[in-house]
Amino acid sequence: MRMREQLEAIRREALESFSAAADETALESLRVRFLGKSGSLTSLLKQTGSLPAAERPAFGALANETRIALEDALAKRRDALHAAGAARRLESETLDVTLPGLPRAFGRKHPMNIVLDELVELFVGMGFSVAEGPEVETVYNNFDALNSPENHPSRDPQDTFYFNDNVLLRTQTSTVQVRTMAGMQPPIRIVSPGRCYRKDEVDATHSPMFHQIEGLVIDRGINMGDLKGTLDAALRGLLGKDTKLRFRPHYFPFTEPSAEVDVSCFMCGGKGCSVCKQEGWIELLGAGMVHPRVLEMGGIDPEVYSGFAFGMGLDRLAMLRFAIADMRLLFEGDVRFLRQFV
Ligand code: PHE
Repeated sequence: MRMREQLEAIRREALESFSAAADETALESLRVRFLGKSGSLTSLLKQTGSLPAAERPAFGALANETRIALEDALAKRRDALHAAGAARRLESETLDVTLPGLPRAFGRKHPMNIVLDELVELFVGMGFSVAEGPEVETVYNNFDALNSPENHPSRDPQDTFYFNDNVLLRTQTSTVQVRTMAGMQPPIRIVSPGRCYRKDEVDATHSPMFHQIEGLVIDRGINMGDLKGTLDAALRGLLGKDTKLRFRPHYFPFTEPSAEVDVSCFMCGGKGCSVCKQEGWIELLGAGMVHPRVLEMGGIDPEVYSGFAFGMGLDRLAMLRFAIADMRLLFEGDVRFLRQFV
């Protein structure tokens, strides 16, 4: 009879396609096709009512048996596919945990950054914050706003890298003084480390690119004693508590009075040795009281406020601290050299 044959055909076709299904997704669509709400077996069952009443129970029993057989076959095939997939993944994703690990090269701080980080920490401890400024600067910020006279030798294109008449590579971090004053009113207490550029030939103590750290403090009643006390604390913290400072009169356009500051040699304690070239002192930085004209150009009233500033060469400081004889070593990036510092 027709419906029985149909049932038998569905059963055969379903069992065949189940065992041919390549993966679980394919199997799922076969489930829908045969056993789903509008699948072929379900549709056939819906037609049971069209059979003569006497044939319905036997057909119903057979159809039910078929459904159970198909569901059973489906579940078995699903398990088999699942197990095969897992086995394949295990095979392709094997990880041999007994292989030796890949050695990792650890980086470390550059000697200049060791010195810089220690210094910044000391200044932050005294209430300074860290300011930053760009290396490509305006002539105004690098010279004019720092009260540098028109004919000052450092303006010469022989000494300074210009992009054009108004833009250059900064020759000093003092540019950050100008930027800071433009952006805030006193009290100001900042340090600003960064790269500077001058047209120097490369040799053991010169490089066209070098590093400075600038300091600027402006408030009511700031005086030379504050400058001395601050530098004293910072350099003793960095170089040892017996470090002494020596201020020698000097000239900078943006400070008045100005000084060059030496530290007692931390190698020999001032007796004279090869590090200090038998002087007992090492020249370390420029400093002074911020020139009233610089304050004025920065929008700060010199009748109310005063301040000090300093600028220190970081490369030189690192060379002294680690007894590095040649500045080029700092910039060549040779790890055999750089590995030595902690
Ligand atoms: N900018 C000066 C230099 O590069 C150093 C300096 C900074 C001096 C701040 C006084 C005050 O030589």
